Amino acid sequence: MATARSGFSSRLGFVAAAAGSAVGLGNIWKFPYETADNGGGAFLFVYIICIFLIGFPVMVGEIAMGRKTGANPFGAYKQLGGKSWSWVGLLGVICGLMILSFYNVVAGWSFGYFLQISFGDLLAQEDHGAFFGTYAADIGDNFLFSLAFMLLTGFVVLRGIQKGIESASKILMPMLFAILIALIIYALTLPGAGEGVAYYLTPDFSKLNLGVLNSAMGQAFFSLSLGMGALITYGSYISKSDNITTSATIVTLADTSVAFLSGLLMLPLVFSAGLETEGGPGLVFTILPGIFQGMGAIAGRIVGGTFFLLLCVAALTSTISLLEVPVAYLVDERKWPRRKAVITMAAVIFLLGLPSMVSFGAVDWLSNLTYGGESGKSFLDLVADTFSEVGLPLGGMLMSIFIGVRWKTNNLSDEIAIGNPKYKGSWLETAINVMITYVCPVVLALIFVSNLLQKFAGVSIL
Ligand code: PHE
Repeated sequence: MATARSGFSSRLGFVAAAAGSAVGLGNIWKFPYETADNGGGAFLFVYIICIFLIGFPVMVGEIAMGRKTGANPFGAYKQLGGKSWSWVGLLGVICGLMILSFYNVVAGWSFGYFLQISFGDLLAQEDHGAFFGTYAADIGDNFLFSLAFMLLTGFVVLRGIQKGIESASKILMPMLFAILIALIIYALTLPGAGEGVAYYLTPDFSKLNLGVLNSAMGQAFFSLSLGMGALITYGSYISKSDNITTSATIVTLADTSVAFLSGLLMLPLVFSAGLETEGGPGLVFTILPGIFQGMGAIAGRIVGGTFFLLLCVAALTSTISLLEVPVAYLVDERKWPRRKAVITMAAVIFLLGLPSMVSFGAVDWLSNLTYGGESGKSFLDLVADTFSEVGLPLGGMLMSIFIGVRWKTNNLSDEIAIGNPKYKGSWLETAINVMITYVCPVVLALIFVSNLLQKFAGVSIL
């Protein structure tokens, strides 16, 4: 069996990179509106349960598979489960590729907004909702900014694990926390902020139902970067002496705190503008600019520019991890030089993202798809629904089944125990094994089937 290849220089390097992968647009762009739409504090409560009961064990499983095999997801399943399981890893590689294709489009919007709020006249617009509509439909800027984002991502990945991914994460992650805290402190001083915080933190348990559980679970999975092998890949670059459970705990806590803190930033901002809990994906691009505009020309530029910079930083450490997955696959399995793998993959994924990019008005039929009984969906929605809402729970389900029935939990325990001598016999070992063997497959199967039916047949079972 292969041993870990050279990779991260230290545990801190891995933790920064894995937390970077986890913390992304999901935390800052998606989590606050999911929370606002699903009953505030009640959603938060369910989300945290999903994170620790389902997300954490799956994360530990992924990292352990990666370290054990020293390989990309395809190679990891192949080594541990034989050819008949390797397709599960391949599925992960494909999900990664497709998720990056649309993620990079949203990252491109963030980058464009950062530049045009800081240095252009975006804030002078009268109607920000309409402006975003025109902006997203204009492919000139979008093409340019998402290409720039992909080039930046490719540049970091090209430099390799230590010099690229690790060094970038060690700079970007502290920067992200600092910006986030500074913005929160400012947002909390705004009039009306208290109501926003109260809305965010007061749980309304009457809003809880299985649908909310489903959204929370999906969000938890996406946010922790699980189900497609990003953490198998990063796990393949860590040392045998690393303590996997401790690292996974830190990554989980970092991701959850950034999600929590983003809500603490966003809801006060929205309430300060007297906007109740207007949610939806447009929150960041349609509502926030209006709020920044209301702060005055200079403050708006500074606060707004800083906010979109935060979004770019969060997105970049995630796009890096998404690109590394197919790159590692080509390098390990096809023996491609890293350079060729990075350039090819970045180009292919950028091209795959073009239909998503033009699905906000630039190309009519791609902007108005009908599936699952809903019309007016974009091609980006279609890719996100397929590869993230359905693909990730499927990947997580298959991984927990794989560990439970094929690789076996005693082998998982052996791998974890290498860097954590007290692991065997601990309550944590029992908890992780029970969750991975019995609970995760069932819960994730339910989410997978429910999302599949809901997104593509228009039938809600949860
Ligand atoms: N976790 C990232 C986010 O929250 C998205 C992501 C998903 C990154 C899967 C890598 C793999 O934005």
